[in-house]
Amino acid sequence: MSKRATKPIAERAAWLREAITRHDERYYAHDAPEISDAEYDDLKRELIALEDTYPALVTLDSPTQRVGAPVVTTFAPVTHAVPMMSLDNAMDWDELAQWGDRVARGVAGARVRYACELKIDGLAMSIRYENGVLVQAATRGDGKVGEDVTANVRTIAVLPTQLTGQHVPAVLEVRGEVYMPIDAFERLKADKERENEERARVGKKPEPVPANPRNAGAGSLRQKDPTITATRQLAFWAYQLGEIEGVPAFTSHRDTLDYLRGLGIPVNPEATVLDSLQEVVAYCDRWEAHRHDLGYEIDGVVVKVDDLAQREALGVTSRAPRWAIAFKFAPEERNTVLKDIQVSIGRTGRATPFAVLEPVVVAGSTVGMATLHNREQVALKDVRPGDTVIVRKAGDVIPEVVGPVLSLRPKGLKSWTFPKQCPCDLKSTLVQEEGEADTRCVEPQCPYQRDQRIIYFASRGGMDIEGLGEKTVFALSDLGLVHDVGDLYFLTMEQLLQVDGFAEMSATNLLRAIDESKNRPLPKLLTALGIKHLGPAASESLARAFGSLDRIAEATSDELSAVDGVGEVIASSITTWFAAKEHCAIIDKLRRGGVAFGNITISELPQTLAGKAVVVTGTVPGFSREEAEAAIKDRGGKSPGSVSAKTFCVVIGDAPGASKVTKAEELGIPVVAAADFSRLLDTGEIPA
Ligand code: IVH
Repeated sequence: MSKRATKPIAERAAWLREAITRHDERYYAHDAPEISDAEYDDLKRELIALEDTYPALVTLDSPTQRVGAPVVTTFAPVTHAVPMMSLDNAMDWDELAQWGDRVARGVAGARVRYACELKIDGLAMSIRYENGVLVQAATRGDGKVGEDVTANVRTIAVLPTQLTGQHVPAVLEVRGEVYMPIDAFERLKADKERENEERARVGKKPEPVPANPRNAGAGSLRQKDPTITATRQLAFWAYQLGEIEGVPAFTSHRDTLDYLRGLGIPVNPEATVLDSLQEVVAYCDRWEAHRHDLGYEIDGVVVKVDDLAQREALGVTSRAPRWAIAFKFAPEERNTVLKDIQVSIGRTGRATPFAVLEPVVVAGSTVGMATLHNREQVALKDVRPGDTVIVRKAGDVIPEVVGPVLSLRPKGLKSWTFPKQCPCDLKSTLVQEEGEADTRCVEPQCPYQRDQRIIYFASRGGMDIEGLGEKTVFALSDLGLVHDVGDLYFLTMEQLLQVDGFAEMSATNLLRAIDESKNRPLPKLLTALGIKHLGPAASESLARAFGSLDRIAEATSDELSAVDGVGEVIASSITTWFAAKEHCAIIDKLRRGGVAFGNITISELPQTLAGKAVVVTGTVPGFSREEAEAAIKDRGGKSPGSVSAKTFCVVIGDAPGASKVTKAEELGIPVVAAADFSRLLDTGEIPA
């Protein structure tokens, strides 16, 4: 094949150069990116690939030939004595292996050790010490010239302004990443949101709220007033040297990092040196799974050849060193178009706005919808149908719309207004009660609410009917086969075969699952009814105290609230529920359908942790995560996923989450070693 690019290819390269240059400027000079990192990476990789295939396409001003964007600000320029380079990316294991092969060839098959570090999602910074004193801090800029942000960087508390140790060098330029810790970001965001609520009250337009810690960190570094930067609690991890004088000659990267540590400069504790790419893959895998256990954001792992002589042999390209590669995690943020905002109706009638999105792959799965929580959230975020929005999906958290990309908002786009009617066929009115955040559909016959009640009844936390998910409930309801949860127990094979997608086998399975659910323990049945305010813990207490559904239904509000863990609000909600005619009919159907009303299986174990919240982080030897949680719950305790002021104690297993440990320390919550977990279960007391 000829290596001469055809006209469309040359045009595509020119378009990519222009687009990347524009995005570089928005990202580096204005802290206001229009596309997500993932989209940007795609453009850059496409251009690199084209230039690799057709070298004649490489122009001097191509963004592949430089780092970042030219500096356009009021901060003084700083010329880097040693250029600050970028890194090439590996998006998957194949690309990491290919890099490994290139390295192996470059060192003629000599043994290679890999220094692995977390890729901190912050801002590259060069910090210069002269005779131990911090004299200058500069951003990366275009790699050759950055901006002087010394006054602002001096406010970073973890960074020494004076080096300690015995051999302080004449000149030490240390490079690393300035970042905003997640809790500092959350605080800043909450402050900004409060300010915006205040602005809204006095009729002022909201100010943009930073979308993520990286943007917030960049904005904080650009403050004209360093006292503002100081309030932002920025932090720093060092990972490299720049210009040096009087620094010992090291032979490995590891020694360099140890030296920096010795001078009091923060070096990330997770940095390590590994012997094989296989171990590197395991390290990347582990950190991709545990990225949210950290108190700061990472977007990958940086793998570097540890031996400095080998680095020398490998050299650099025009854009990046050959001796390092950034293994990128699946992106958790993408941009997409907000096609519409609709409301969904929950089982209690709550109307929750949600975003209908142009589908986009985030963190490995396709996202087409995302919750917008409530009316206030939509107003605060000021997202409008037609906007380009940032969609985020972090870990197990449900996808959310972070906010609009204002620079891409089409002219004349109208704000969204909350609908006045329920989207169901009855078109009932949606009301927001005085002093309540939620807007509700108050029509008890609303088919949307009815379907949601059935879905809840069949869900894991309730009667756990396998195969009776959302789709099947909607289908059964559309065909008029079920009107309430009682009808489930009268479904027949013939009826199920009318449902789209059901065949004899699936119908038999569903009928069997419904049949099995008849014997669920009373607390499950009580919870499944979906009585307002009544959750699993109070259901368990009530089941224990009364022993059957009929006795609970007959009890007075006073009798109910006499039970531990059942307050007046729950008690009166229960009596009101059982008093309603339509609910009596449901109870009657459940009884006739053969559902057990008095099946109580109550834990035999002593309830040593009754009402106590025990957070487990890391692995406790001898227990899987689920087993540790079950052991706590079997003793009456709770095992939430995060530490709060209400936490009784935090059990620290192997490889614990740093943020949970820090949070426990901050809040003064007792910690328990994994070895003492069994003692804690037995006694309910914190072992000394
Ligand atoms: S080494 C010449 N190590 O990622 C190599 N970079 O995408 C210089 N980054 O420009 C970089 N964590 O801003 C290195 N542990 C780490 C890093 C890291 C984050 C940033 C850095 C770099 C960018 C490249």
